[in-house]
Amino acid sequence: MPDTAHDLIIHNGVLIDGTGADRITADVGITGDRIDAIGDLSSHTASDRIDAAGNIVAPGFIDVHTHDDHALLSKPDMAYKASQGVATVVAGNCGISLAPLSFTGDRPPPPLDLLGDGYRFPKMADLFAALDETPPALNAALLCGHTTLRVGAMDELGRGATDDEIAAMRTELAEALDAGAIGMSTGLFYPPANAAPTDEVIRLAELLGPAGALYTTHLRDEGEHLQESLEEAFEIGRASGAKVVLSHHKSAGASNFGKTKESLALIDRVRTEQDVTLDVYPYHASSTVLSKSRLGESRRVIVTWSEARPDVAGRDLDDIAAEMGCDLEEAVDALQPAGAIYFAMDEEDVQRVLKYPHAMVASDGLPHDVFPHPRLWGTFPRVLGHYSRDLGLITLEDAVHRMSGLPAAEFGLTDRGSIAVGNYADIVVFNAETVIDRADFNHPTEAAAGIEIVFVNGKPVWRDGAPTGARPGKALRRQALQAAAGR
Ligand code: ZN
Ligand code: CU
Repeated sequence: MPDTAHDLIIHNGVLIDGTGADRITADVGITGDRIDAIGDLSSHTASDRIDAAGNIVAPGFIDVHTHDDHALLSKPDMAYKASQGVATVVAGNCGISLAPLSFTGDRPPPPLDLLGDGYRFPKMADLFAALDETPPALNAALLCGHTTLRVGAMDELGRGATDDEIAAMRTELAEALDAGAIGMSTGLFYPPANAAPTDEVIRLAELLGPAGALYTTHLRDEGEHLQESLEEAFEIGRASGAKVVLSHHKSAGASNFGKTKESLALIDRVRTEQDVTLDVYPYHASSTVLSKSRLGESRRVIVTWSEARPDVAGRDLDDIAAEMGCDLEEAVDALQPAGAIYFAMDEEDVQRVLKYPHAMVASDGLPHDVFPHPRLWGTFPRVLGHYSRDLGLITLEDAVHRMSGLPAAEFGLTDRGSIAVGNYADIVVFNAETVIDRADFNHPTEAAAGIEIVFVNGKPVWRDGAPTGARPGKALRRQALQAAAGR
């Protein structure tokens, strides 16, 4: 009786299925890597049972904005994400992807160094092969980074690409898409990508629309010129025929507080004409490379790592400069290369974006930072516990939807993101009363509370507050996802 015998039944739990629908009481049956029954399964048999009494059973979360490219290989238990209930990550954001690039120099130019080193995958297919060969605990989809393409194709980065360089980048991007990348990302804010004119990006992005691939972007300017930068992203989307994903939507700098009112209204308007979506992390501080250009807008800066002064990781730039007897700019120079956390957002803007119904929750965590922004370990439990339960900003069903069903739909991650018969058994069991982030700006690598067990493709990867050691994650390829969607 294949219908009533399962490998595993998660019983007595309350199901939030990821679609945004109200919770129901239901058991979930799993056989192999798929969900094969939902409902009252008390008469069914199973080799294994999990009692989820008092807990929520939800789809494993999907973190669509990550810099996990290298960590998937070097930290394959992915504890910082599995501990939050995450089952799938999308890597390669902000223009920064580990492939395709074979970098033999001392260290890659910033911001590529946010992934550490390890740029040894000349083709995207090589990175997919490495993930197949040594799978991580979580599933991963990959974006191809525009900045990575530039570093591979250009000998002088501080200018727009020539026709020949664009042709070379198009060849690499086409190969990456053929290998299974789901889109291209840009980080037009950062040097050296900020030297790229809109037209350079469009000539690459043209490959995306016909492939059904995405265009994700860290905007050229998230402060004073937020509106123009949004218009540029929409233009690239229209010219390419690709869906536009606005990364970590925000408004930075005190003089720009409140601008998300207009930006969300603009996005709403544009959404009636073209495909646009966005992600957001639940903090009013950002994190990236340490740069003088961000000092003016920040009320506080914490150094997350420094190659020149490893000992200062975790300390305020103010204190470091005082101790060095210099001003902030000189201190920034002395610490290079380095990373930082910047307090330059208004909590009201953060909450406005989190409440926006089309906003996906995503971490933008930086797994190689010595003293990382707490979003790396805290994003998803913080939205569930702090913003949904404690502040009542959005319902728990809605919060789960923004972390599962919505990102699966927007990123085309077929058969994932909801608890449905036939879907992959990516599942998180959590306690709605106790779930909370414990990572903060003083203790940034504390695992969250209330995440009981996390399954990826039917196998537990996080249990009793620790990784299980299982590595059932799969590298998700665009063609296979699209084929499954058309089934
Ligand atoms: Zn970014
Ligand atoms: Cu990012």
